[in-house]
Amino acid sequence: MKNNQSKSEYTVTAALPYANGPIHLGHVSGVYLPADIFVRYLRMQQRDVLFLCGSDEHGAAITLRAKKEGVSPKQIVDKYHHVIKNSFNELGISFDVFHRTSEQLHHDTAQEFFKKLWEDEKFVEKKSEQYFDQKNQQFLADRYITGTCPKCQYNEAYGDQCESCGADLSPMDLISPKSTLSGEVPIIKETKHWYLPMNRHEDWLKKWVKDGVLDGKSVHDPKEWRNQVVGQCLSWIDGGLKPRAMTRDLDWGVKVPIKGNEGKVLYVWLDAPIGYISATKQWAIENKKDWKKYWCKEEAGDRKLVHFIGKDNIVFHAIIFPILLKDHGGFILPHNVPSSEFLNLEGRKFSTSKNWAVWLHEYMERYPDKGDELRYVLTSIAPESKDAEFTWKEYQARINNELVAIFGNFVNRTIVLVNKYYDGVAPYRSALTEKDLDLLKLLEESKLKIASNIEAYKIREAQSEVMNIARLGNKYLAEQEPWKQIKVDPKRVETIMSLSLHVCAVLSIAFHPFLPKKAYQLQEILGINEDFWFTQDAETLIPGGQAIKKPEMLFQKIEDELIDKEIERLHVSEK
Ligand code: 2FM
Ligand code: ZN
Repeated sequence: MKNNQSKSEYTVTAALPYANGPIHLGHVSGVYLPADIFVRYLRMQQRDVLFLCGSDEHGAAITLRAKKEGVSPKQIVDKYHHVIKNSFNELGISFDVFHRTSEQLHHDTAQEFFKKLWEDEKFVEKKSEQYFDQKNQQFLADRYITGTCPKCQYNEAYGDQCESCGADLSPMDLISPKSTLSGEVPIIKETKHWYLPMNRHEDWLKKWVKDGVLDGKSVHDPKEWRNQVVGQCLSWIDGGLKPRAMTRDLDWGVKVPIKGNEGKVLYVWLDAPIGYISATKQWAIENKKDWKKYWCKEEAGDRKLVHFIGKDNIVFHAIIFPILLKDHGGFILPHNVPSSEFLNLEGRKFSTSKNWAVWLHEYMERYPDKGDELRYVLTSIAPESKDAEFTWKEYQARINNELVAIFGNFVNRTIVLVNKYYDGVAPYRSALTEKDLDLLKLLEESKLKIASNIEAYKIREAQSEVMNIARLGNKYLAEQEPWKQIKVDPKRVETIMSLSLHVCAVLSIAFHPFLPKKAYQLQEILGINEDFWFTQDAETLIPGGQAIKKPEMLFQKIEDELIDKEIERLHVSEK
């Protein structure tokens, strides 16, 4: 089947995780897995796509963790960068590059970016009074200060955001503020910073978010953006954008590249998204490519920039970073920002501080061969448009009732029968019946649905459609009953089994972006090597005479014992 979707090129990013702790299943399900499936699918379509990520190694998230553990920020980021990178690798998340914002290349890139904006007078320099911790001799911004949220009264709101109601705050908004470092009530002291006057950008941002129009040109279809992204952006813009400081008084981060400003660093939310650009530069150096082709209007042409993120990152990727890119000039702006909602765990929020989490690196250590099973479950429940929930019972049910009982069962029955009837050699087809033609037609429809769902970022629906192909295969076998027909019409059984093998081959291709290892295992059994998204003529996926290997169980049933142990582990390790 020839795919008739347009062949756009893509630069795809997944939010840079803070290197202050490991990754948990909530992060995986909302951001990294859907991004990986999307990218794998594009690669199978032979599209030009670059998949970028890396660790976010600056900001209070890092320094506060270092203080808590009594080590240096550098020790923290070195440790978690590797933990995170390896765990992604184990799960088969296929970044082209996983960079670090502590690399010199990133510091240079971020400084150059800031300097250009400063020279072009895109910032406003302003003196203001800010909270200061006398004991630690430090200004207190963002997470360095906590207090009561003026909007919802939550009493552990941060200086930049209330994690309870999501309000955007500044330290001066907090009621009863206290320093996160010393716990003491801060004093007020004057300091100077560079602000991004976001208020100047409301008009174009609104047209861009709402209508997909930029500089009078239609650049994206606003209906393709998720409702929650458009809704959150418009509510920010309509509420009035305020100037936001792009620098901080800290010693850990990218130094402000303007003479006489020692002791100041770039705001982590300025420096982190530039990390996508420096990651591209690193990849381009290693692969002898031109990084500009992935970011700069002139070289990138119609290339689409797509940011996969969680909902707490919307404002940074759909408002602040686009302002910075536009102010800088010459850069493409995001074509879409598929943002996920949150995943909960066994009825509660994932919580690092309470250790209420399933950590990816620990899961992969315990179940090194069950990465694809986890991918399947997390995609089945992905929080694409509303918050969702991971439970170990559902993990068991999805694997046993779907991967084992539907997909595994269909493939196994087919391979067993082909081995039994034809000694492992694919049979030839004869004339097709109405039912056979129906099956082929439904397969074609499914392939189109899967492709259009993935391209619309409906990854969860796409996976469920792939599983429908396995259901179709089981139904076909149940109706055709080759085990009965073999005694009365063995010629007909050759066609039935040839078509069943064909369904297995389609499954091995369609499941490839979702379950890369299992899809590859199935292709090995079937003797096919199909890295492309249905570019071959359907008839030739498994020609008659092709050797089929002995059956292997693709999936093992999950026993109650494993589930009980995991639930117990959660409660025991809870703090
Ligand atoms: O929320 C977070 O985990 C941030 N570290 C995401 C950064 S995304 C990008 F801007 F780098
Ligand atoms: Zn609040």
